[in-house]
Amino acid sequence: MREIEKNEIGYMISLAAEARERAYCPYSNFRVGACLKAANGDYYLGCNIENASYSPTVCAERTAVFKAVFDGVREFEALAIIADSETYSSPCGVCRQVLAEFCESDMPLILANKSGEYRLTTLGELIPFAFTKKDME
Ligand code: THU
Repeated sequence: MREIEKNEIGYMISLAAEARERAYCPYSNFRVGACLKAANGDYYLGCNIENASYSPTVCAERTAVFKAVFDGVREFEALAIIADSETYSSPCGVCRQVLAEFCESDMPLILANKSGEYRLTTLGELIPFAFTKKDME
């Protein structure tokens, strides 16, 4: 895992918690916030955005990634996720695949619970042997 300082982890969790406030989740009432740190030092925040037709729902993680990519930013250093749960909510399968498109497998993932406690993991741990553009060379 790439190194990440404790202060930085705490800061990213606080930004993810702010992002969680923007969640639009009238169906699940489960708010999720994400903070994606770009290699240029910028932070991209995301929340989950639900839909009456359910399947178009977008997770907090993908909102953050897509905002960054739209801005022309494609290199990332770390991701923090916080939900409304005492468990350490981890990215869904679709988000893992989207993250694998842009992030290295040793990128730190900070999974925080609603009390602000966290566990650290990596993208490679969550999606080992991912299908990526390297497979299409
Ligand atoms: N959700 C996220 O935003 N991120 C995750 O990592 C897991 C799930 C959202 C999708 C949906 O709006 C709600 O949480 C319940 O699944």
